[in-house]
Order: sequence, then C-alpha cells, then structure tokens
Amino acid sequence: MESKKRKAKIIGTGFYAPEKVLTNADLERMVDTSDEWIVTRTGIKERRIASKEQAASDLGYEAGKRALENAGLSIKDIDIIIAATATPDTLFPSTACWIQKYFNAGHIPAFDISAGCSGFIYGMILSESLILSGTAKRILLIGSEILTKLTDWKDRSTCVLFGDAAGAVVLEESNDGSGMLSSYWKADGSLAELLYLPAGGSRIPATMESVKNNLHYLRMKGNEVFKHAVKNMGEASLEALKRAGLTCEDVDYLIPHQANIRIIEATGRRLHLPPERVYSNIHRYGNVSAATIPISIHELREEGKLKKGKISVMVAFGAGFTWGALVYRW
Ligand code: ACO
Repeated sequence: MESKKRKAKIIGTGFYAPEKVLTNADLERMVDTSDEWIVTRTGIKERRIASKEQAASDLGYEAGKRALENAGLSIKDIDIIIAATATPDTLFPSTACWIQKYFNAGHIPAFDISAGCSGFIYGMILSESLILSGTAKRILLIGSEILTKLTDWKDRSTCVLFGDAAGAVVLEESNDGSGMLSSYWKADGSLAELLYLPAGGSRIPATMESVKNNLHYLRMKGNEVFKHAVKNMGEASLEALKRAGLTCEDVDYLIPHQANIRIIEATGRRLHLPPERVYSNIHRYGNVSAATIPISIHELREEGKLKKGKISVMVAFGAGFTWGALVYRW
C-alpha cells in the first residue's frame, strides 16, 4: 500500500469556457472536412472559441475565481499561483503573473508550467511537493489554453482538434487519507518536433518571413503523436497505480487528457475499465490541452461522482513530449 501519510488534496474546483461554440457543421463550411470524419476520428462534436480580446489569463482568472468560490476561500488564502499553459498571453511575463494582477493578489509567487497537454499533471506533482515541503499552505493551480489562436485555420488536420477553456483547482495539505497517493512523470525532448510551434521564440523570432511561412501556427504529426500517446498514457497509468499499491480493479474513474476519443478508449482498455468508468467530455470542448483534466474533475465533482474514498487515475500526454499520471483518493 501507499506509504505517504501526508498528502496534497483538492479542496475546490472551477472552470470557464468561452461562450462562442464552433460546431463540426461550421467547420465543414471552412475546410474540406465532415462531421462524420471528425466524430469518428476524434470524438469531437463542438468546441469553444475565445473572443478576439480574451487571452489565456482571462480564461484562467475566471476559472481560478470559481475554484476559490467553490472552496469557500478568497485569493488571500492562497500562497502561490501556478498556471499550466502552452498558449501564454505573452512570452513574458508569465500568464500566472497576469492572473495575479487581476486578482490583486499582493506579492505571492506566480509562475507558469510549460508542459503542453501534460501541464496540469506536472502542476499537481509540483504543487504536492511545494505543499509537503512547507513552502506553501495553499496553491491555486490553473490550466488555461487558447489554442485556437495558434492554429492554422486552413490546415484541416489540426484546426478541427482544438478549443479554448480553463480549469482550476485549489490544493492544500491533507491528513485524512484523501489526496494524491502516487505519481509518475516523464519527458522525451528528442521527439519535440512531432508537436511544436516553430516561431515566435528565440529560435525563430517573428519576422515578415516567419509569418509568410506560417511558422506561428502549431505543427503536429498527428498519427505519430497518437501512437506515443496511447502507449505512454497506458504505461504511466499502470506505473502510477503500482506506486500506489493499487490495481486496475481499484479504479472508480479514469480521468484522461481529452485529445482524441480513440486515445481515451485505448487507455481505458489498457486498464481493463468499462466505458462508464472512463470520463470523457471531448465531444463538447475538443482538446483544450492543460485545461482538460481540471474541467473533467470539476464536472465529475458536480455530478456527485467523486464521493469520499473513490479512486481516480489522472493521466496526460502532450508536447515535449511530456506525459504523466497520478492516483488520487477522494
Ligand atoms: N477531415 C477530413 N479528412 C482529414 C482531416 C479532416 N479534418 N484531417 C486529416 N484528414 C485526412 C488526411 O489527409 C488523410 O488522408 P489521406 O489518407 O488521403 O492521406 C486521412 O484523413 C488520415 O489522416 P491521419 O492523420 O492518418 O488520421 P488519423 O487517423 O491519425 O487521425 C488525428 C488524425 C485525429 C489528428 C489523430 O492522429 C490524433 O488524434 N492524434 C493525436 C493528437 C494528440 O493527441 N495531440 C496531443 C497533444 S496536443 C498538445 O499537446 C497541444
């Protein structure tokens, strides 16, 4: 069985999704695609699109406010703000610093995690460590993404996949047996170019040439990413369970990153879980990267499905490549 007595637990959740809905029928009018192709290959039916004025910090701030309200706390109760995002407002300062400003949160530390779609899992592991070391009592961890502004709307192989949204959790120390039981995280930078955004950083700064060559949009070798995601999400889930001293039979809910329904189902099969124990909301939001898992947690909590003692496995895979899983007792 798991050895840790002290743990980090989630005491509040919230999410925010922009109002504008883009359906597959809308996409049929924009690129050479079909609702049938998108649904059978990805499971996505619609996604939310941020307004021209909204940036990742705006979505993250809304989700963060709702998570604090849900926890019955205010920003004054928080020691650190962490934002997991692959689509920051600005290269610097961090999205977390913009969020800190909107909260008028005083001088508490605020920083981003750049781990693509695995950002929330990375953030949970880091938050646990900050809490158990005594560095922070409570952390506001936010996953916020506006991928649709970095997507080439002429590229049908990527533009149908992504959406915009944010999810947030409030974490604190737990001594009642609930919380994170175990975790497992990995990265493989040698495969970085299978999923990346070439320009806008110090490698290829923005120039007329870089804009003309479409280098400011994300690039993805979808079928390669797919294979690595299926393999690593399954392995990470099993390894995290092993580290918690649990087996697949103990799992009440698998809460996987929502990139593709086929990846979600394959991970569920690897854990021998029936479909009703594998959470999915990809049909509503598409892939919202680091926001998918906190949104799923919030929805499951609201539905009353994460009752005390239930066991969840959360697992993600994303740009880097990065991947990771954790086992959580509610
Ligand atoms: N509509 C119609 N046809 C399309 C579309 C579309 N939107 N997109 C691609 N196609 C075509 C292709 O051109 C190809 O046609 P061809 O056979 O004539 O060449 C055919 O469909 C098959 O293309 P594949 O890319 O092989 O399709 P695949 O089954 O792999 O599905 C997908 C593509 C959905 C992208 C899948 O590979 C996938 O989900 N990959 C993983 C994505 C992911 O997990 N990302 C993770 C993290 S994202 C992050 O970190 C920000």
